[in-house]
Amino acid sequence: MLKNPFETLLTISQQINSTHEITVLLDKIMDSAMRVLEAERGFILLKKNKTAHYETVTARNLSRERIESMKEHSSSVVTRVLQTREALISVDAQEDDRFSGAESIILQKIHSVICTPLLIEDRIIGAIYMDRQMSEDQFDQSSLDFLTAFARQAAIAIENAQMLNDLQNENKKLKERISLNDRFPEIIGKSQPMQKIFEMVHSVAPSTATVLIEGESGTGKELIARAIHDHSNQKDKPFIPIFCGSLSENLMESELFGHKKGAFTGAHQDKPGLFEDADGGTLFLDEVGEISQPIQTKLLRILQEGELKRVGDNVIRKVNVRVLCATNRDLYKEVQEGRFREDLYYRLNVIYIKMPPLRERPDDILLLAEHFLQHYALKNKKNFKGFSKEALRYLQQYDWPGNVRELENTIERAVILSSKSLIEPDVFQLKKSEPKMPVGKTLKEINKYAILQTMEMTGGNRTKAAEILDVSRRWLQYQLKEWGMVDEH
Ligand SMILES: Nc1ncnc2c1ncn2[C@@H]1O[C@H](COP(=O)(O)OP(=O)(O)O)[C@@H](O)[C@H]1O
Ligand SMILES: [Mg+2]
Repeated sequence: MLKNPFETLLTISQQINSTHEITVLLDKIMDSAMRVLEAERGFILLKKNKTAHYETVTARNLSRERIESMKEHSSSVVTRVLQTREALISVDAQEDDRFSGAESIILQKIHSVICTPLLIEDRIIGAIYMDRQMSEDQFDQSSLDFLTAFARQAAIAIENAQMLNDLQNENKKLKERISLNDRFPEIIGKSQPMQKIFEMVHSVAPSTATVLIEGESGTGKELIARAIHDHSNQKDKPFIPIFCGSLSENLMESELFGHKKGAFTGAHQDKPGLFEDADGGTLFLDEVGEISQPIQTKLLRILQEGELKRVGDNVIRKVNVRVLCATNRDLYKEVQEGRFREDLYYRLNVIYIKMPPLRERPDDILLLAEHFLQHYALKNKKNFKGFSKEALRYLQQYDWPGNVRELENTIERAVILSSKSLIEPDVFQLKKSEPKMPVGKTLKEINKYAILQTMEMTGGNRTKAAEILDVSRRWLQYQLKEWGMVDEH
C-alpha cells in the first residue's frame, strides 16, 4: 500500500506543473513515478508528432534496444496498453498467462510490471512503463490507482509543454525569417533563390573571407557586395568599389596600388592607391575578369602577403583589406582558357555567390516593380495608383536581359513619361518580348543594330550598355567612335 497517495500526487503535480521545459518535465515525471512506486526500471513513450509511432523519450536502467524490442513485441505489456488504452499490472510476468508468449519478458525474468497509457480524455499520447526485477514486492491495485491518477496529470503537463515548445519553435523560425528580411531592407526579393542569397550574405559577412559574386549584369552583384560589407565587423571602415573594365592598365595599376612622385609623366606627387585607402575595410573589384595579367600578379601578392608596392616605389607597405569581387563572365572558363591566373582565381573564390537572373525568379519582378515605382514616384513628386493589369502582364512576360537594372530604368522612365494615375504598358518602351532581329542583313549590320538597341535600352549609358553586352566600356567607346557616335571631349 502507498502511504498518503493523494498528498504525494498533489506534491508531484505541483512540481511537474512548474516545469515547461519538455525534457526536464519528462525526467521529473519519470523520477517521481519511479520513486513513489519503488520501480527499478522504467521508460516513457510519446507519440511522435501526430504520427502513429511511439518513441522513447526518457528511460531508466533500460537500453533503447531493449525498449525497442519490448515495443515491437506484439504481445508485450506495452503493446497491449497502447492498443487497449488501459493501465495494467502484470504480477509476476513469468506466470501470467496473458503474456506467456512474450519472450522478452520471460528472458528478462521480470517479476512485476506496471504500465499505463498517457491519456487526455480518451486520446492517447503515450505510455509510462515500469517494472521490478529483484524486489519480492509486487505492484498492486493501489499502485495502479496511483499511477492512473498520476498519468492523467502528467499527460496534461506533457501536452502543454509540447504545445509551448512547438509555439516557441515556430516563433523562433518566424523571427529568424523576419529579421533576415529586415536586415537587408534595401534588397528586394521574396523568391527562394533570393532568400538563399540572404542567408549566404548573413553567414559570410562577419568573416573576412574573399567573396566572388558571379551573375549577369544588373542582377544586384554590387548591392550584395555592399550588403556583405555593411554587415561585416568592418562596416565603419571604407567600402571602395572600383570598376575594373573602364581603366587602362597603367591607370588601373596606379589607381589600385598608388604611385611614387615621378613614377610616370603626370605623377606630380606621391599618391596612395585604393588598397591603402580601403585599409581596414573592403575593396570591391567589379568586373574582376577584365584585369590584365600583370595586375593579376600584383593582386595575388596582396592577397597572399598583405603587401604592396606603389608604382615606381620600392617601399613595401602592409595593408589589411577584405576583397570582394564580381564578374558577369564565367571566371573559371577564363582560367581554363588561360586569360585568368588559376592561383588568383582560387584566392578570390573562397566564397562563391551566384546571383540568379531575374527571369529565374519571376516572383520578384512585380515586387521590384512596385518598389521602384514607389521610389521614383516620390523622387519625381508624382502620385500613382499602381500598374494597370496589362502593364503587370507585360512586365512579367518580358525577358529582362538587363535584369534588375533594366527593370529599374524601365520603371523610372515610365514614372517620368506617365501622365495617368495607372501606369500603362505604352510607357515602358520595351521592345516586344522578342526583340526583332534584322534578318537578311550582314553580320556587321546585325552587330551594329544589337549594340545600338542596347544603347537605347540603357538610355545612352555606355557603362551600362557595355555591362549588358559583356564587353569592356573601352571597346564600346571605340565602336561608337568608329560610327561617329561619340562626341570628343
Ligand atoms: N534585389 C534588388 N532589390 C533592389 N534593387 C536591386 C536589386 N538588385 C539590383 N537592384 C538595383 O539594380 C541596379 C543594378 O544592381 P547592381 O548591383 O549594380 O547590379 P550588377 O552589379 O550585378 O550589375 C542597382 O540600382 C541596384 O540597386
Ligand atoms: Mg555592377
